[in-house]
Amino acid sequence: MSDAVLVTGAAAGLGQTIAGHLLTQGFRVVFADLNGEQAQAALEAAGGHRDNALALALDIRDPERFQQAIDQAHRHFGALHGLVNNAALTLTTPVMEISVDEFDQVMTTNLRGTFVGCQTAGRYFSEQGYGRIINLASLAGQNGGTASGAHYAASKGGILTLTRVFARALGGAGVTVNAIAPGPMDLPSVHAAVPPERMTDLLAMIPVGQLGEPGFVARAVALLASRDASFVTGATWDINGGIYMR
Ligand SMILES: NC(=O)c1ccc[n+]([C@@H]2O[C@H](COP(=O)([O-])OP(=O)(O)OC[C@H]3O[C@@H](n4cnc5c(N)ncnc54)[C@H](O)[C@@H]3O)[C@@H](O)[C@H]2O)c1
Repeated sequence: MSDAVLVTGAAAGLGQTIAGHLLTQGFRVVFADLNGEQAQAALEAAGGHRDNALALALDIRDPERFQQAIDQAHRHFGALHGLVNNAALTLTTPVMEISVDEFDQVMTTNLRGTFVGCQTAGRYFSEQGYGRIINLASLAGQNGGTASGAHYAASKGGILTLTRVFARALGGAGVTVNAIAPGPMDLPSVHAAVPPERMTDLLAMIPVGQLGEPGFVARAVALLASRDASFVTGATWDINGGIYMR
């Protein structure tokens, strides 16, 4: 039997691309999203069926609901082997205009949601003696962001730190935890944040002069989710067109 992976935020954008790609690579996939109906539509668009895919409504902020999602995946597939913490809120409010409520809203979804995912799946994977966790961070968490808000950038910086902490805590139990830090991708969320008249300026500051391809990030996720990836943990893979080099 192939490995089963749960992808959060799988109803749209990068999460939908990742979930669809994992399916084509022979993984069994849980399409999880705040919006369960859209998650089901994404599953159907990817050609998923009962044997290789499951769609469910999941609010990543809620630990009980996260546990239930893992239990549901376990019942459906017999086991769960991977988690992609992809769901996030991408807000772009200028830093001096962010209210504390909006700050909390972004932190609760992005940072708390990833923490809840790592901890809940981390327990399950540790008991099983095997697991792969991949966190979607961002270039914004490394350089403070280009088009995104301070709350978003800070939450993504926190995800990079959580990735290392969970990697250290779970490595001995056969569980790897890694992050991918993409720069601006050719996705609806980026086109919503960067109007056409500002796109030329954005492209001019990217050394390779183009937006990132979501499919490439999905392929990197599949590699980190594979059995082969046992010697990479606590890492952050930069996929940013050279905007940030280290
Ligand atoms: N788009 C980019 O260029 C880019 C760059 C760097 C990092 N990323 C990261 O990639 C990931 C996906 O980005 P995207 O642009 O596809 O986002 P998106 O806004 O298009 O999609 C996010 C999905 O997450 C879901 N979601 C939101 N809150 C949720 C919650 N509480 N519980 C469950 N699901 C929830 C939404 O319903 C939506 O389907 C995010 O983590 C983002 O930070 C994206």
